Amino acid sequence: MHTPICGVEIRTEAPFIAPAAARQKFPMANPPIQLSLQTDKSTPSLTPPVTPIAKDSHAPNPFHETQLTYFTDDLDLCLDSNNRHVEFGRGVWSTVYKARAKPSTLLGTPPSSPVTAAQVFAVKAPLRRDARPVLKAEAATLTRLTRLPNHEAHIVPYYGFHVEMCALVLSAIPLSLATFTEDQAELARHKNPMQTMFEPVQGPASFQDLARKLIAGLNWLHDVAGLVHGDIKPQNILLRETESDVFPYEPVFIDFSATVEIRSEDAPLDTTRASMSSFTPPFTAPEMLAALMCKEMAPTAASDVFSLAATLLAVATGDLLLYSNMNHRLRLEMARAGHQIIDFTRSGMSGCRVPRNGFVERIVKPAVVKDPSMRISTAEWLKLVREV
Ligand SMILES: Nc1ncnc2c1ncn2[C@@H]1O[C@H](COP(=O)(O)OP(=O)(O)OP(=O)(O)O)[C@@H](O)[C@H]1O
Ligand SMILES: [Mg+2]
Repeated sequence: MHTPICGVEIRTEAPFIAPAAARQKFPMANPPIQLSLQTDKSTPSLTPPVTPIAKDSHAPNPFHETQLTYFTDDLDLCLDSNNRHVEFGRGVWSTVYKARAKPSTLLGTPPSSPVTAAQVFAVKAPLRRDARPVLKAEAATLTRLTRLPNHEAHIVPYYGFHVEMCALVLSAIPLSLATFTEDQAELARHKNPMQTMFEPVQGPASFQDLARKLIAGLNWLHDVAGLVHGDIKPQNILLRETESDVFPYEPVFIDFSATVEIRSEDAPLDTTRASMSSFTPPFTAPEMLAALMCKEMAPTAASDVFSLAATLLAVATGDLLLYSNMNHRLRLEMARAGHQIIDFTRSGMSGCRVPRNGFVERIVKPAVVKDPSMRISTAEWLKLVREV
């Protein structure tokens, strides 16, 4: 059954009465919960966003569009042997295509973003008409982020906004943390269970190094950029290869479509970006899910911390759904009691990978406490993860 919500067609599989402030009925499905758009059947089932609210294209943009970085070269979208566009992925708002710059137009490239014909780009283009303001707002965020020191280490390289395609031009990084985690879980199944069943699927040293890098990235976003990501989950983190480290990848954040500024408690709520966000239990903080039932609420630094902690649990257990053996209704209930996420995970199929008082628990525990104001800040979290 399909229900139009604010002009957005969504798939309704099981009735789930949605928040008044979300203005509509939310459908619910599996996995992990389907509040998602009706999309192509090829959409991977592990990209499970909930996108309740359509966009207001006249909404003010908190980041100034006039200062966007533009990508002025022409692009060739790559084709496969069946003459179809090659895609890196899809989300609620966008299709991400593989592309190269047209050699004949390379002179147009501004010096700040030197581009060669050999370079492969990921071009994030709108999937639907109402995604355009979302992508433009994301372009503004990326423009702002790429002007900050040390952005190269933590966010996907951004080349600019392509006006004709209304698309973001990004460096192509073909491995997501979600895919990596699934691969590691598969590899772990072939290892001697007696030796490794109490460890994260990718091994303890790799996990700790990855956790350090991810927390350092979020700390940069919060403390240097002053922004809340708003949609942290394994599908929104890409892994760029590095040579030396224990964990041989550098994780970078992508998908700033739900990003908002960190605001003080008494500042007026800017719902522009919040109303653009997609929610993906169990990575969404419980207070955000609770707020969906009654009022508009923008994501916060504390809700980002929760989402990254849930991501770390998924990465350690190799279970991207976290509560994969549950039905969807139960899974939503569990996500709403997210402060119990460690216990829930421990009672699941891969729970032995999060031993009581082990380093995974010690890293995750202060980041999932119920009261968001008591949750660890990224600066403290970084100290903790370096000591564990
Ligand atoms: N720079 C990139 N290189 C390679 N793949 C990418 C890149 N950016 C995005 N992707 C792939 O495309 C998918 C969708 O991208 P993204 O999450 O930015 O879109 P979205 O529509 O905002 O998603 P969501 O549904 O999470 O809101 C990602 O999960 C990832 O697999
Ligand atoms: Mg995404």
